[in-house]
Amino acid sequence: MKLFDVYPLNNITITRAAGSRVWDDQETEYLDLYGGHAVISIGHTQPHWVNRITEQLHKIAFYSNSIKIPLQEQLAEKLGQVSGKTDFALFLCNSGAEANENALKLASFHTGRKKIIAFKKAFHGRTSLAVAATDNPAIVAPVNQTENIDFLPFNDTDALEAHFSKHGEQVAAVIIEGIQGVGGINVADNAFLQAIRKQCDHYGAIYIADSVQCGYGRTGKFFSHDFAGVDADIYTMAKGMGNGFPIGGIIVSPKIPARHFMLGTTFGGNHLACAAALAVLEVIEKDKLMENAALTGQFLMAELQAIPEISGVRGRGLMIGFDVPESHKNLKKNLLNDYKIFTGEAKPNVIRLLPSLALTREDAATFIASLKAAIANYQH
Ligand SMILES: Cc1ncc(COP(=O)(O)O)c(C=O)c1O
Repeated sequence: MKLFDVYPLNNITITRAAGSRVWDDQETEYLDLYGGHAVISIGHTQPHWVNRITEQLHKIAFYSNSIKIPLQEQLAEKLGQVSGKTDFALFLCNSGAEANENALKLASFHTGRKKIIAFKKAFHGRTSLAVAATDNPAIVAPVNQTENIDFLPFNDTDALEAHFSKHGEQVAAVIIEGIQGVGGINVADNAFLQAIRKQCDHYGAIYIADSVQCGYGRTGKFFSHDFAGVDADIYTMAKGMGNGFPIGGIIVSPKIPARHFMLGTTFGGNHLACAAALAVLEVIEKDKLMENAALTGQFLMAELQAIPEISGVRGRGLMIGFDVPESHKNLKKNLLNDYKIFTGEAKPNVIRLLPSLALTREDAATFIASLKAAIANYQH
């Protein structure tokens, strides 16, 4: 049997990793500024994370959600403490799409309504409703198409208010990334998030903060939506939550009550996943990784802004994007092939940086020096 060929692949086989470094099967070392798509939050093979998973594996890896799993309660407690959302409640699942799917479903259950507001260039995942709320017709199958999603322009408060004043009574939820990732690193304005909060309160709709890519400390705050100073009703999480161990979740405001069987999953919240997620939060806290993300991010942004060949440097903390001119459109490939540095990309010519929150100043400086050298090659 061969693999179902859905991914365009780099011809590289990574066989081991540590911190912000990975090595291929030829022992070539790479600097990882991509984190396997924003997943590596505390660093590859971080020792505390490896130990906690290994110890848990020797006790019990999995049992279903039909029994008590104290690790889930410990995770909820720790997540409340580190995120500051102590009065929210945690539901665990396995991926970002599943987190958004559950958040949208919950909003609809709670309000009894069907309409969802999403935004242009949004990406919320590939399951049925999450993909319908994703602004990319190429990945929406006919069966996923629905009249229930309205796409509004991002950061346009007038359009938001106009839509609510016409259809507000039917809106179940507004879903928004604090910083659009796949869409090319577009930061939601504080005033726009405040307007969403206000409209949702006025019309009884649910504000869902998709924090799958921009959350978990990446921006220097636990949730990037927190920069606006208003709470969402549901935050969705995955990626950095397990540092590579698959886990996702939603945290739910106390204003939305739970009832038995309204949500559920077989694998979500299993012992091993909880151990991995607890290790991540313990390391984020102990090693002050949110502070590091903020400071190292500031350093990178300042350095990038001083490079004349690139433009539109944007983002927060260690979620950074910049535009590359058409003449330099192979820059990402040059960085990988010639300088052994992994970065991310977005269409048309955006380079995305999504490194571990433990990225050191030295590694950030190495990246900048390599980027400058790669750009200088174009002048020859
Ligand atoms: C903002 C956002 N939401 C949801 C998802 C979907 O997450 P997953 O691939 O874990 O289903 C992604 C994945 O890139 C994302 O960036």
